[in-house]
Amino acid sequence: MPTVSVLTKNDQEQIVSSGEYEVQKDQILFDQLDAQGVKLPHGCLAGSCGSCRMIVTEGSELLSPPGAIESDTIGNLKMSNAKKYPSDCDLRLSCRVKVIGDGKISILPG
Ligand code: FES
Repeated sequence: MPTVSVLTKNDQEQIVSSGEYEVQKDQILFDQLDAQGVKLPHGCLAGSCGSCRMIVTEGSELLSPPGAIESDTIGNLKMSNAKKYPSDCDLRLSCRVKVIGDGKISILPG
């Protein structure tokens, strides 16, 4: 079963793990983490506001490819915030992503 490690930054801006969760394949990542008590930032839950953005630091190949709505939103986020989200940053939207493969995924919300 795939696992998702949810990362956070501590006071020194170092990345630390705040928990690891088993998830089902072919289900929306946001919904699966929410059901396990992980409250990720969110807004529209439809792929357009970008509030649920997350940086995938590991296992991006285990995630569904972005559709048109997600690609547009990510493109806008990167364009308006290039310092925080450089072009090689694997930015995704948890309300659109599905896990499609077995293995470990690590995400940094925000
Ligand atoms: S909550 Fe709005 S894009 Fe995911």
